[in-house]
Amino acid sequence: MEKTIKQEFEKRFGGEGTMYASAGRINLIGEHTDYNGGFVFPGAIDKVIMADIRPNGTDKVRVFSVDINENVEFGLEEKDAPAQQWARYIFGVCREIIKRGGNVKGFDAVFAGNVPLGAGLSSSAALESCFAFALNDLFNGNSIDKFELAKIGQSTEHNYCGVNCGIMDQFASVFGKKGHLMRLDCRSMEYEYFPFNITGHKLVLVDSQVKHALVDSPYNKRRQSCERVAAKLGIDTLRDATKEALDAIKGEISAEDYFRAKFVIEEKQRVLDVCDALQRGDCETVGRKMYETHEGLSKDYEVSCEELDYLNDIARRCGVTGSRIMGGGFGGCTINLVKNDIYDQFISTVTHEFNGRYGHEPKIYPVIISDGAHKC
Ligand code: GLA
Repeated sequence: MEKTIKQEFEKRFGGEGTMYASAGRINLIGEHTDYNGGFVFPGAIDKVIMADIRPNGTDKVRVFSVDINENVEFGLEEKDAPAQQWARYIFGVCREIIKRGGNVKGFDAVFAGNVPLGAGLSSSAALESCFAFALNDLFNGNSIDKFELAKIGQSTEHNYCGVNCGIMDQFASVFGKKGHLMRLDCRSMEYEYFPFNITGHKLVLVDSQVKHALVDSPYNKRRQSCERVAAKLGIDTLRDATKEALDAIKGEISAEDYFRAKFVIEEKQRVLDVCDALQRGDCETVGRKMYETHEGLSKDYEVSCEELDYLNDIARRCGVTGSRIMGGGFGGCTINLVKNDIYDQFISTVTHEFNGRYGHEPKIYPVIISDGAHKC
């Protein structure tokens, strides 16, 4: 990938720039908790977006996407974001840096990536944090701190892409560290690195390759449900809610809002339980909690779909230690904690059975926890 990017850069702009990369992410547990001030437990993975970038001495940005084979040019003062979705992420990052008083000048860039799109691995956060990191290095002497870089990516999603996301994906992509998961408290923004040791097990993603259309923005709707319940309880976020307090207002909120909030309350505790279990090397508990999360995301939060529930069923039948839908939902991957001695059997069964029902094989990605945004 690096070689292709360099060749394209030379062909289009002459010479070479500086190469930067940032990563997609997994999340072991803690789904839909970030925008509720709860805990998440993600890590960056070995699937990246890489960009070769060089200031061009103008106020224009010229970017070529190798994967889409498309060129976009925009002015830094322009009000309207480019029509191409991929370019909006870069435009948004530039604008959000400028909005915060940072410096961005014109530049030329060529980029490519191997983070699967629409699989719930946060290819968009990887793209945002790759450019945020690079523009901080090239034009701001690295004076913007890492949390701000993550927030620049998050604001790009809010203001240029219509997704009212939390901070998890951009955080993981910026802060990722090889061999470590990170527990982030999304209220205090305190975080801790946990060495990721799962002796005797492997972590693997099974990608249904299903992308359900997010008509009506169901992600934003989930967030609104949580905010409605928090307001009813008179608290800032569901982080401060208890099951007892929720039950006390059950009659005053819709059944849908009740189940959304119930999931969030249970999920924030599961993250803490999983971190403890991981430190004890207790994979059985980690796995059990993962199944509970799947159940909650499917029945209470309703962000699963038939294909993902089927992948979860197969995992359960194969004796996989833990399995659950990962990321925002409505398609994408399950994350699976699998004992080494049943790994091959699981992969062949899930491939065969899923193909038998849906007519296409799922994609399999073994998880390798890697570094986040960096200069190459
Ligand atoms: C998406 C969002 C994140 C987070 C997850 C669900 O990936 O971008 O902020 O809310 O969904 O956990």
